[in-house]
Amino acid sequence: MNPTATTSHQPPQLAQQLQMVERPTALPEPHHFKLAEVALAQPQQGEVLVKNLVMSVDPYMRGRMRADAVYAEPFQLNEAMTGGAVGEVIVSRHPDYQPGDRVLSMLGWRDWFTTGVAAGELQKLPKLAAVKPSLFLGTLGMPGLTAYYGLLQIGQPQPGETVFVSAASGAVGANVCQIAKLKGCRVVASVGSDAKAQWLKEQCGVDAVINYKTCGNLTRALLAAAPEGIDVYFENVGGDHLEAAINAMNPYGRIAACGMIAGYNETNPLPGPNNMMLVVGKKIRIQGFIISDHFDQQPAFFAEMGPWVAAGKINSQETVFTGLDQAVTAFLSLFSGDNFGKVVVDLS
Ligand SMILES: NC(=O)c1ccc[n+]([C@@H]2O[C@H](COP(=O)([O-])OP(=O)(O)OC[C@H]3O[C@@H](n4cnc5c(N)ncnc54)[C@H](OP(=O)(O)O)[C@@H]3O)[C@@H](O)[C@H]2O)c1
Repeated sequence: MNPTATTSHQPPQLAQQLQMVERPTALPEPHHFKLAEVALAQPQQGEVLVKNLVMSVDPYMRGRMRADAVYAEPFQLNEAMTGGAVGEVIVSRHPDYQPGDRVLSMLGWRDWFTTGVAAGELQKLPKLAAVKPSLFLGTLGMPGLTAYYGLLQIGQPQPGETVFVSAASGAVGANVCQIAKLKGCRVVASVGSDAKAQWLKEQCGVDAVINYKTCGNLTRALLAAAPEGIDVYFENVGGDHLEAAINAMNPYGRIAACGMIAGYNETNPLPGPNNMMLVVGKKIRIQGFIISDHFDQQPAFFAEMGPWVAAGKINSQETVFTGLDQAVTAFLSLFSGDNFGKVVVDLS
């Protein structure tokens, strides 16, 4: 097969990529990263050349910046970082891929790349005119699947129960809130700004929202928002949020431990909740999960989430940064709360 190039994008000689040049020990800073230029390889037989259109930044990438990363491979120094991205095939030397195909890969943090497809490096995306590519990095991508699996399989909410969600306006949290509402639950959310709280109430149907930065004592605020207690806690933050959730939890409550972002940049571990004995008395189940263990749940996820999205039953908020040189700033917004909804970087 002869390589074919679309007219919309001409491949450059050099591709840009972000590399980590020093491991951060606290909050990462721009000097820990470098924008590097590397030769863009021509695709060989069985390979494709892709231009990234949009890339994801996610909190788990902070863990990969540590040499002792827990569940995902550490990023290597002076090599391109990796992460979710949606791109367009520009040149194909593989019979299953055509120029113009949209593909999901883990080859984000770069503008162009050449790759083989034999080992499943790429996932071809459906051509849905109404669905913008970034949705496959958010609501219809890894964060959406995380919300769907973690809430339904681990939280096991029943209609009429109360679900508490932290980091609730974020990529995962906003989907958890809306899926819980669709499943007939009462939803109480926690966020770090009034604008996020307003959006959750007005656009996502969340019943009560706490601004944890201004509410004072979090347990008291949670009990006021959920006077009958909570049955499920979707844990994204850790620390004081976990402690408040345990305080407010009803007997046989479930905690889906998805993440604990409050501690990701701490040099010393945050103090643990001081009320763990309540886990015994209330017979609470706490279960962690890593979504990459459950990618086999994608068909069930698409089958239920796809129609919800198509019917406008799930709202998605995005913060879009433009250009690879903004990717580190985009990543850091996850920890300052400057982001609102899913954070992506437009590389188109
Ligand atoms: N287990 C898994 O497989 C899996 C997969 C994906 C994500 N996760 C986890 O899910 C959580 C949410 O991820 P996401 O991608 O949806 O990110 P996100 O919620 O879109 O962005 C992070 C949000 O966390 C909040 N935050 C940051 N620092 C905080 C702090 N010190 N205290 C309280 N809130 C803080 C901020 O919102 P506010 O303005 O509201 O503070 C920020 O917007 C993270 O813990 C992540 O590690 C786990």
